[in-house]
Amino acid sequence: MANFIPDEIVSEVVASTDLVALVSNYVPLKRSGSSYVACCPFHREKTPSFHVSGDKQLYHCFGCGVGGSALQFVMAAENLDFPDAVRFLADRAGIRIPETTDESNDEFYKKKRKIYELNKDAARYFHSVLFSPAGRNALDYLTGRELSIKTINSFGLGASLDEWDGCLNHLLSLGYDRELIVEAGLCIRNEKNHVYDRFRGRVMFPIIDVRGNVVGFGGRIMGGDGAKYINSPESAVYNKSKQLFALNMAKKSDRDYIILVEGYMDVISLHQAGFNCAVAGCGTALTQEQARLAARYSKNIYLCYDSDEAGQKAARRAIEIFEPIDCSVRVLSVPDGKDPDEFIKKHGAAEFERLISGAYATVRYEIDNLFKAYDVDDIPQKVELSRRAAQIIAQLKNAVEQDEYVKYVCRKANISEDSLLTEIKKQRRRDSKKSLENEMRQVSSQSSPRRTQSGQASSRLKKAEAGLLAALLTDKNTFLRLSEGINAEIFTYDFHREIFTEAQKMAESDAPFGLSELSAAFRGREGEFSEVFLSSDSIADPKAAAADFIKIIERETLKKEIDQAVAEGNREKLSELLKKQKSLKG
Ligand code: CTP
Ligand code: MN
Repeated sequence: MANFIPDEIVSEVVASTDLVALVSNYVPLKRSGSSYVACCPFHREKTPSFHVSGDKQLYHCFGCGVGGSALQFVMAAENLDFPDAVRFLADRAGIRIPETTDESNDEFYKKKRKIYELNKDAARYFHSVLFSPAGRNALDYLTGRELSIKTINSFGLGASLDEWDGCLNHLLSLGYDRELIVEAGLCIRNEKNHVYDRFRGRVMFPIIDVRGNVVGFGGRIMGGDGAKYINSPESAVYNKSKQLFALNMAKKSDRDYIILVEGYMDVISLHQAGFNCAVAGCGTALTQEQARLAARYSKNIYLCYDSDEAGQKAARRAIEIFEPIDCSVRVLSVPDGKDPDEFIKKHGAAEFERLISGAYATVRYEIDNLFKAYDVDDIPQKVELSRRAAQIIAQLKNAVEQDEYVKYVCRKANISEDSLLTEIKKQRRRDSKKSLENEMRQVSSQSSPRRTQSGQASSRLKKAEAGLLAALLTDKNTFLRLSEGINAEIFTYDFHREIFTEAQKMAESDAPFGLSELSAAFRGREGEFSEVFLSSDSIADPKAAAADFIKIIERETLKKEIDQAVAEGNREKLSELLKKQKSLKG
């Protein structure tokens, strides 16, 4: 499926977004000079080092180095890939994105959009039934299972009437086509061509994809006979093996792991207890696609399956499924035959937190990967392998577990336990030193966010080059006018030169021109890019500013060259440079 969104549209979407307004939906912004500051939403800090510029429409955190345009912000804050971030901003700005130019596909997308709409209306309907007199039983059931109204609302839970056509009539009254209602799976057409509600007298769980679309429903019985759950069938918008229930919420979690559980109720009860990173499959055994999907959002996966036999079997199967996927999988064992929902209710959140920290890691998987990657018959590779193995084992808190893995690695690699243990000790010292250094860095970056590691002179040069770029890139016309007499070689920092050259290319083409478009050319380096533009103050007169910056750059570059000539003892060069310096001053 082509995901291609034309550059013009991407530009239009970014141009229609106000970064300041966007960011302030996530963190409170405070005005500071010509820009805004906040505590960075992407790392923990107490003093604000996250800057947002309204006129440049870029943000940058001087603490952790992230930055970019509205697109990068949404990608990071909502955990979306590029096309989905464009769609997210487009929705917000009310811009329609043509999904594809292919006509047959276009029909397909139209149908999908219609079903999304229908499903959303159905979800609203079930939710309103839950809070109507007819939903009394269902509401009692849910509150009886200790779900708060807030939780019920945030998951959009609902109830279906104990009738044959409650949902059908409601959707028909909204103008939906009978055929579409059947296609979406909300109703069933029998052999006698009679259409009736699939979900009757059940508690309803809407299943929402990462982009926030309602793709299907699960319906739980509240007693009596019948299947415990009924689920929406597959449809144009619902592929069970590719969905994870509550991933739309878990992707925004501040926890750096994902807990994979078996049931909808487990997910909901974990979220209510503060574990908002819990997700579940949708009535199928875990699939490769789901495992990959989860790993896209976090490389730390905790499997938390029921401790009954079926649950344990499922956990073992899940470990196998995760085997080829690049992530660390840990297994949480919930004691005394309980599922996570019951466990939380009985023992509370703190106790569950303890289960997580004591989770048994599939360290074995990580170690086996080392043996796949390194050749133990080659000494340098064997050294590297034992160093990496020591890193992994050093993180284990349980002594028995540590012992087991030391034995395992030593046997496989044919090294002595003593030498591996020495490596592990070294690694532990390094780890504790590193965490100390991190803390120190945090503190120093807060007291002086813009400090550069290089000397004062080179920082002046760097600033002048950044300033020149900012002046040139005010807009396309300014750039074309001012850049004419400038040679890329004037920039001594490679990255600055690259930005200048890239801007030249962009200005000569018909492509949309601007800072956010330019930042897109530096994928993966958006943080560096935004730093360049947020380090300088805003510029009122680009022409005058550019002239000033060029002067400073020439002066500073000359100084650097003089220093170098002195260091090299190159007398001839030195006298030439000194002459040049004189003429510059004169
Ligand atoms: N499931 C299903 N059909 C069933 C039983 C289960 O699709 N007849 C799926 C549902 O997705 C369910 C999951 O398997 O959430 C796990 O089942 P179970 O542990 O029985 O459900 P819970 O969500 O824990 O429900 P409860 O706590 O109410 O028993
Ligand atoms: Mn359960």
